[in-house]
Amino acid sequence: MSTVIKGGTVVTAGDTFPADVLIEGEQIVALGQGLSGDKVLDASGAYVIPGGIDVHTHLDMPFGGTVSSDDFFTGQRAAAFGGTTMHIDFSIQPKGASLRETLDIWQAKATGKAVIDYGFHVAITDLSEALLEEMAHCAEYGVTSVKLFMAYKGALQVDDTTLFRAMQQAAKHKLLIMVHAENGDAIDVLIKDALAADNLAPKYHALTRPPELEAEATARAVRLAEVSGAPLYVVHLTNAGALEAVRLARARGGAGHIFAETCTQYFFFTKDDLAREGFEGAKWVCSPPFREKHDQAALWQGVADNSLEAVSTDHCPFWFEGGQDGRTPGKELGKASFAQIPNGCPGIEERLMLLYTHGVRTGKLSLNRWVELCSTNPARLFGCYPQKGAVAPGSDADLVIWDPEAKRTLSAATQHQRTDYTLYEGWEVVGAPRTVLSRGQVLVDNGEWQGEAGAGRFVHRRPFGL
Ligand code: URP
Ligand code: ZN
Ligand code: ZN
Repeated sequence: MSTVIKGGTVVTAGDTFPADVLIEGEQIVALGQGLSGDKVLDASGAYVIPGGIDVHTHLDMPFGGTVSSDDFFTGQRAAAFGGTTMHIDFSIQPKGASLRETLDIWQAKATGKAVIDYGFHVAITDLSEALLEEMAHCAEYGVTSVKLFMAYKGALQVDDTTLFRAMQQAAKHKLLIMVHAENGDAIDVLIKDALAADNLAPKYHALTRPPELEAEATARAVRLAEVSGAPLYVVHLTNAGALEAVRLARARGGAGHIFAETCTQYFFFTKDDLAREGFEGAKWVCSPPFREKHDQAALWQGVADNSLEAVSTDHCPFWFEGGQDGRTPGKELGKASFAQIPNGCPGIEERLMLLYTHGVRTGKLSLNRWVELCSTNPARLFGCYPQKGAVAPGSDADLVIWDPEAKRTLSAATQHQRTDYTLYEGWEVVGAPRTVLSRGQVLVDNGEWQGEAGAGRFVHRRPFGL
């Protein structure tokens, strides 16, 4: 069975050209003019782009005294509606578990539910000698990126000894180290000070996690990576100071491979959003927190000049009013104190539309750079290019027919993410997916769901740089 996508303009990270795209089974087999196939999908007036790849998500994740509200079906379906056809989720090591056991726990969450392809990063919380040795098997597991949290003291945080030893082992086995870079020890002191002073409202979440503590942790992680020789990817970078640490590392040159992402939401909100009326600000509680307007400008500059290689979502949704009607507990857990608000925001669905509307349409990003940031660079950095992230013969037919003029109004009432709010309520976007395919199968067509639970597959990724 073949499918041809006809009459569109193919947009890749490096090129823009008119072409039909011929798909046989699960893969692209040809690009050209006048191609024909058993089934025809109309792309006239539209772009044909590689499906989005979101390398920072937390589906069905136990966190903050509850569990994130999207599972692998609802979260992935929402991703597909927004044009994302692959994601890499964080598989978090329960204390004492092996890496294999950890990955098996996450695999069980995905099995039977997945609708798009996915991979895992493994997050180390408890580094024993056995675990260090097991890192040698990560490539065999197809999981070639290892995350460490420098914050969330008493929960996920690791110390510098752990971070550095993991980096040394990662350097040996070509694993990409990822860090949540905030100084968790100093933040812990600031949180305790705030609680003692009875400063309990959501805005204190941002005030107890100042940007300097992200910049410091970023610079520390970068230096440790340079000494260890490990490639480093800084996740959810939010501010000018942290970006400076990345730029300085690049300017030093040396052997280091230092990369960084930001996330969609950091372009649009500031710490003032946490001070919204009543408890409303809890919707904007995530870590690192939202910063200042000038940081947003720095991030736009960072994605334009390649200081930031990718934009992901850190999708970690919670209900605003959870714990009832079959909902897991959510943000309401923190009504008495900001320190109990589960950290995280939804966003897996909106990324491509927001960056197209506010990046491409405003001239901040070229079309090709948009594709590069949202799909191709993630595939390259995380060992699955050109299987993913490309529109080329031999690549998986994970494709989006993108209507550049389609208008949508983002709203909790119409979103597919399993939460009762969106950060972007009432925002209009221009540019949205018309048709979304995963390995040649149509998942979404003109807003209609055609996917099948269980069809998504684990993507076995290559070691860094291979
Ligand atoms: O607030 C956030 N970002 N929650 C998810 C966990 C993390 O730190 O990425
Ligand atoms: Zn984080
Ligand atoms: Zn995260």
